[in-house]
Amino acid sequence: MHLQRNRPKNNSQRTPQGNLQGKTILVTGASRGIGRAIALEFAQQGVQRLILVARNQQRLIELAAELEALGVEAVPLALDLAQPIEVNIAIAQAWRDHGPIHLLVNCAGVAHQASFLASRLPQIQEELSLNLMGMYTITRLVARRMAAQQQGTIVNVSSLMGKIAAPSMATYSATKFAILGFTQALRSELAVHNVRVVALLPSLTDTDMVRKFQWFRWVMPTTPQRVAQVLVQGLQAGKPEILVGWQSHLAVWGNRLLPGLMERISQFAAPLTEIESPEQLRVARANSR
Ligand SMILES: NC(=O)c1ccc[n+]([C@@H]2O[C@H](COP(=O)([O-])OP(=O)(O)OC[C@H]3O[C@@H](n4cnc5c(N)ncnc54)[C@H](OP(=O)(O)O)[C@@H]3O)[C@@H](O)[C@H]2O)c1
Repeated sequence: MHLQRNRPKNNSQRTPQGNLQGKTILVTGASRGIGRAIALEFAQQGVQRLILVARNQQRLIELAAELEALGVEAVPLALDLAQPIEVNIAIAQAWRDHGPIHLLVNCAGVAHQASFLASRLPQIQEELSLNLMGMYTITRLVARRMAAQQQGTIVNVSSLMGKIAAPSMATYSATKFAILGFTQALRSELAVHNVRVVALLPSLTDTDMVRKFQWFRWVMPTTPQRVAQVLVQGLQAGKPEILVGWQSHLAVWGNRLLPGLMERISQFAAPLTEIESPEQLRVARANSR
């Protein structure tokens, strides 16, 4: 295998990538929750243009109007990230009409909470196809163009559940662990092209995603606005992994030092810990056919 080694020519040709002023940024999952808050926070940081991706066009148009009122050029781009052909065409057009894109934030994601034994295949497929394949598709398209420009930053939104797997969230945790592996590999691979790759790890955040969830004991939710502020601070500080909140730092350190204890705590804190009866398992099997 031949890996190209195009080292950036010298430091003076690098742009300070923590600085968001005048930048063009594409945020996926911008219609709601954390992605929307990130777009609004970036607008406060003097970015020039925000390309807003999600499926719900109406919500994107409303957000674009809010951003324009803050003096930022906003481009709503309604797109289903699980449709690679559609994404391919849209990103090529967006780059041509509004590029170069300096920063890509892969925030779109989906989560289903269920005991694995009672889980349903369509929900598992949805998590895998958006959280992983959707992210790969858009990242490949944007990263190649960034590499050609020798400039860019990619932020992949993982989760604290990408460090500590949680009962009742097996597939979601699997996708968020995978995102961290993907981010780490890309960070090394794209560094030679002056493209920085960062992971953002929010903990429980009060958004639509978790409204129907049974929450974990002792975990205090944060706000999407706080997640967005921590992202900006983390980018400015040049961090490769950005954790949100003291509970996350504590959990990650606890997991590093005492993994057995952390596993027991996470079992105890998790909802849905009751064991399914044979009848419940029979119904689950019948439903998943
Ligand atoms: N909330 C939490 O506690 C938490 C904690 C850790 C990490 N995270 C991560 O943070 C990210 C954002 O989560 P959130 O809490 O803000 O969730 P959310 O409020 O449910 O928002 C999800 C976003 O993804 C978009 N989306 C969903 N399916 C899509 C598709 N097929 N194509 C394009 N866009 C799609 C949604 O827009 P449309 O419906 O308009 O398409 C929406 O903008 C996710 O990656 C999540 O895993 C969340």
